[in-house]
Amino acid sequence: MRKLMTSTAMAALALSGLAMTGLTTTAAAADKEVQMLHWWTSGGEAAALNVLKQDLAKEGFGWKDVPVAGGGGDAAMTALKAMVAAGNYPTASQMLGYTVLDYAQAGVMGDLTETAKKEGWDKSVPAALQKFSVYEGKWVAAPVNVHSVNWLWINKAVMDKIGGKQPKTFDDLIALLDKAKAAGVTPLALGGQSWQEATMFDSIVESTGGPEFYKKAFNDLDEASLKSDTMKKSFDNLARIVKYVDPNYSGRDWNLATAMVIKGEALVQVMGDWAKGEFVAAKKKPDTDFLCYRFPGTEGSVIYNSDMFGMFNVPADRKAAQVALATATLSKSFQSAFNVVKGSVPARTDVPDTAFDACGKKGIADLKAANEKGTLFGSLAQGYGAPPAIANAYKDVVSKFVHGQIKTSEEAVTQLVQAIDDAR
Ligand code: BGC
Repeated sequence: MRKLMTSTAMAALALSGLAMTGLTTTAAAADKEVQMLHWWTSGGEAAALNVLKQDLAKEGFGWKDVPVAGGGGDAAMTALKAMVAAGNYPTASQMLGYTVLDYAQAGVMGDLTETAKKEGWDKSVPAALQKFSVYEGKWVAAPVNVHSVNWLWINKAVMDKIGGKQPKTFDDLIALLDKAKAAGVTPLALGGQSWQEATMFDSIVESTGGPEFYKKAFNDLDEASLKSDTMKKSFDNLARIVKYVDPNYSGRDWNLATAMVIKGEALVQVMGDWAKGEFVAAKKKPDTDFLCYRFPGTEGSVIYNSDMFGMFNVPADRKAAQVALATATLSKSFQSAFNVVKGSVPARTDVPDTAFDACGKKGIADLKAANEKGTLFGSLAQGYGAPPAIANAYKDVVSKFVHGQIKTSEEAVTQLVQAIDDAR
């Protein structure tokens, strides 16, 4: 109930913000303007978004920003729902996986198929992304990037100081966190928000049960896997790792947790590679200032999400701006320039990795390998494992466990199975 009230309040706030910025103003102004709802409000995210604004400005299109802060996009999606219900469609909205399909099914998305044909998206966008950007044969969204969540982001100076080395197993990671603790550094930088906790838990589940287990439990929603001892052990491991946070972690935004690692106040953050966008914005370099390792036990696979610009069925006079946005988003030059800044990797398979740093190059190579080997899995926390109702149920159970409202791993498993069943 508390969550519902918070989200509703945020939606109301967002809407009053829209009224103030005049989103619903005259058609004459709107036809040369892209109205974009998104949750890219951190330093690294804003820098990446600027690349797009500048590209569109070169084409003569203006930008009407509709930002709704809150990593993972829960608040943004509540605001979007209210806008769409009011018939007030943005040109496009940042969206994750199953959410795109939900809106497409509701019949409110536009049709970018003509642009897609002209630009050859069928050939350049990987099938894993087309599954979420094409609905009933029509392109309804433009994929912007591919992020992955199974990473560790480590402060190099702290790592050197404690004599740490890359953890290969979950137990190694715990031993590394112990070393940081002994040296008086906060071992784990975490923000106690449900989406951050669940994003970390995605990696823990694969690390605990292996790639096949992750897929069966979190992509296929196989009941036997969800209620298995391996899932229980995954919660045990979650309980072990959250002991290493600092006392102020509750409610902390993800980018503030990243800042702790950047400043050397904490050793490591487990987070999607949008965290790298913050290192880049702070002018930090991989291997010199920070290290990017795959979460131990997940090397060789990629737990992904992809930001998509869901394209709404806007009136005819706003379509030119939408087509310009879609074309710019999937151009090869934008895919390189944007993703270098954002921390993600291109949503096309034909973009050279030349401009990317070492972590970006690894991200691109890992994605290609995972795609070929069949170890590319959707992140349940990030909207690519199951529809939003199930993902929300998952985030809720993980968070209750982290914050002590669910006391044991047995109870967590029981509640997870129940909550997912109720949401199916
Ligand atoms: C999005 C990223 C974003 C992150 C934190 C994720 O859901 O995919 O683009 O940077 O949330 O805001």
